[in-house]
Amino acid sequence: MKLELKGLTKSYGPLTVLDRVSLSLEEVHSLVFIGPSGGGKTTLLRLIAGLETPDAGEIVINGHPVEYGSEETLREYRKRIGMVFQAYNLFPHLTALDNITLPLVRVHGYPAERAREEALVLLERFQLADQALKKPAQLSGGQKQRIAICRAVAIRPEFLLLDEPTSALDPEYTSEVLDLIGELRDEGMRLILVTHEMGFARQAADYLLFIGDGGLIARGIPEDIFSGSRDDRVSRFLDRVLKYN
Ligand SMILES: Nc1ncnc2c1ncn2[C@@H]1O[C@H](COP(=O)(O)OP(=O)(O)OP(=O)(O)O)[C@@H](O)[C@H]1O
Ligand SMILES: [Mg+2]
Repeated sequence: MKLELKGLTKSYGPLTVLDRVSLSLEEVHSLVFIGPSGGGKTTLLRLIAGLETPDAGEIVINGHPVEYGSEETLREYRKRIGMVFQAYNLFPHLTALDNITLPLVRVHGYPAERAREEALVLLERFQLADQALKKPAQLSGGQKQRIAICRAVAIRPEFLLLDEPTSALDPEYTSEVLDLIGELRDEGMRLILVTHEMGFARQAADYLLFIGDGGLIARGIPEDIFSGSRDDRVSRFLDRVLKYN
């Protein structure tokens, strides 16, 4: 995926979270955002998702600017993207299977039977078939998040946005979710991921953006970000987060 940010600016009241951020990336497959809390990672992801509107500037994906002007174009755009957030956002009264099929049928117009087949294939592939008829309350955190990821990829999105998909999980479930994301990546799914799992960021990212202080403090391939010469703010952050790893 080709991603360009052109003078992207976003403020909340007096707080400018992103201040004229510009960037041009050719063919990046998995882009990972890291950085301090409150730095603007979620804001940037939500702008890319069309869930927030920039105050100035634009985002161009594969040559097409995201059009924030009309709710209808935004809705069409959002239909082509998969999104996974920290808290799984599954419907509590529906089974895992129905959580996956509902958007396929309601939003994407699949016939019920085809939606079911697609969902079952995914559940099978990710070793979740046994959980198909359970409701979220009967699933572990890791299972819930893997179902949420299945739901996001079932629509065959152009790319998948994930915002700290493991941060609400007990540590024992983190790796099963990261494994699934790694598999999707290896199969060619394009990803933009916010994570504080530095080991995973290092391994899974083609390219990293370190976001904070109103913009991109550092950017580069993982080897460059995690080693050698770098911005002091990046070193301090990495020293802190890697302290107990
Ligand atoms: N809807 C909002 N209204 C007001 N302020 C907001 C809103 N959303 C975010 N902010 C503020 O913007 C700044 C950036 O927030 P953002 O959620 O993008 O950070 P983040 O890098 O994702 O942080 P974290 O690592 O804690 O998730 C923060 O100071 C936050 O309080
Ligand atoms: Mg965030």
